[in-house]
Amino acid sequence: MAPVVSTPSTLQHAAAAMDNAEVLRIRNDFPILGQEVNGHPLVYLDSGATSQNPASVLEAEQEFYEQRNAAVHRGAHYLAVEATEVFEAARGIVARFVGARGDEIIWTSNATEAINLVSYAFSNASAGRGGAAAERFRLGPGDEIVATEMEHHANLIPWQELAFRTGATFRYIPVDDDGALRLEEAARIIGPRTRILAFTHASNVLGTINPVDTLVAMAREHDAFVVLDACQSVPHLPVDVKALDVDFAAFSGHKMLGPTGVGVLYGKAGLLNAMPPFLTGGSMITTVTMEQAEYLPAPQRFEAGTQKISQAVALAAAVDYLAETGMDRIHAWEAHLGQRLVAGLEAIEGVRVVGPGAGIERIGLAAFDVDGVHSHDVGQFLDDQGIAVRVGHHCAQPLHRRLGLVSTTRASTYLYNTTEDVDALLDAVAGVRRFFGVAK
Ligand SMILES: Cc1ncc(COP(=O)(O)O)c(C=O)c1O
Repeated sequence: MAPVVSTPSTLQHAAAAMDNAEVLRIRNDFPILGQEVNGHPLVYLDSGATSQNPASVLEAEQEFYEQRNAAVHRGAHYLAVEATEVFEAARGIVARFVGARGDEIIWTSNATEAINLVSYAFSNASAGRGGAAAERFRLGPGDEIVATEMEHHANLIPWQELAFRTGATFRYIPVDDDGALRLEEAARIIGPRTRILAFTHASNVLGTINPVDTLVAMAREHDAFVVLDACQSVPHLPVDVKALDVDFAAFSGHKMLGPTGVGVLYGKAGLLNAMPPFLTGGSMITTVTMEQAEYLPAPQRFEAGTQKISQAVALAAAVDYLAETGMDRIHAWEAHLGQRLVAGLEAIEGVRVVGPGAGIERIGLAAFDVDGVHSHDVGQFLDDQGIAVRVGHHCAQPLHRRLGLVSTTRASTYLYNTTEDVDALLDAVAGVRRFFGVAK
């Protein structure tokens, strides 16, 4: 089997819109989706948590282990050279997918680690590491870090912790009742003291797509760094980090048809090369004495120890798959599914959808509350019919508190979901309250 290959930018894809017939063909590429669960064909509506893998991704990982497995960047033998080549080619493929340069892409274990990497680099700089070059990353009392009320814990707690470690103040932009950021509040909160603005591109609960341009402009006015949580955007819509002009962006392989265990941090090269490292050890140094070490430039500077090599190679195969399908087409299809979901759920008595209402832009997911029935019961009821959804607070407890809820049920779509999948969920949800005896 050939190693991973690059494909042209998805942004130029101009083919016809996706439809159910194409989705059914796509679905054939995903071995796991062909099974039955509890006597029903599996309806997988939990891709917002973890997506499924096409055969090409599974094969890429297997091919790596069968043909090329070795540690990268340090061997002088054939397999080590092969492994290094496909590992670095994978970096290039992922970089092009988001409009970045190869040396601006850092492999991490997941998005959570990517965001922590940035947070700890700022901490280390604040503790005096990194010399004069890292001065711009130093935080202290009087400085402010701003996030939003709709963040996943992965883009919230690392900033709270950074504030605790440095004495900076943590602040947040509130959301309105429809799940949009209150931009007039953002304009008040983001000011001369703001050093970091961290926010999600698309909410994993509300489905809201945030106005990156507006928020970046507010940050730039005050020379603040911008960290974008792109976990729910890079897998589902065309994203160009340069066009967005963010300083850092994080996403996870397993949410975009790739394997678990690999995530990505994008950072502007000038920033990455000035930042002190997060994890330290082998493979990220130039010279080491018994007293100290000198570090390589990015990306190796942030890739201590043996890397997630097969996972990176498989993630590149996932990116190839997405690029061939076309991110603009995937986005349009999922927007269609998302609207169908919201309109259908809103029409069911006793169901409250959180986030933008029907007709307002959102990604292809919807989280909802069923009056009188706990989300875990809703999830169990749906699972009995072969429908996989996520239940709970979706790692967004403050947002749920803001919405006056403890938990919700979330259905999230991807390129392998048909309108029939959405309708199966809607039919099932329509029967939940009767089943649990809270409606006639
Ligand atoms: C918006 C958002 N941010 C961050 C994460 C964390 O991703 P991971 O658990 O892969 O690090 C998720 C995962 O659900 C997410 O949806």
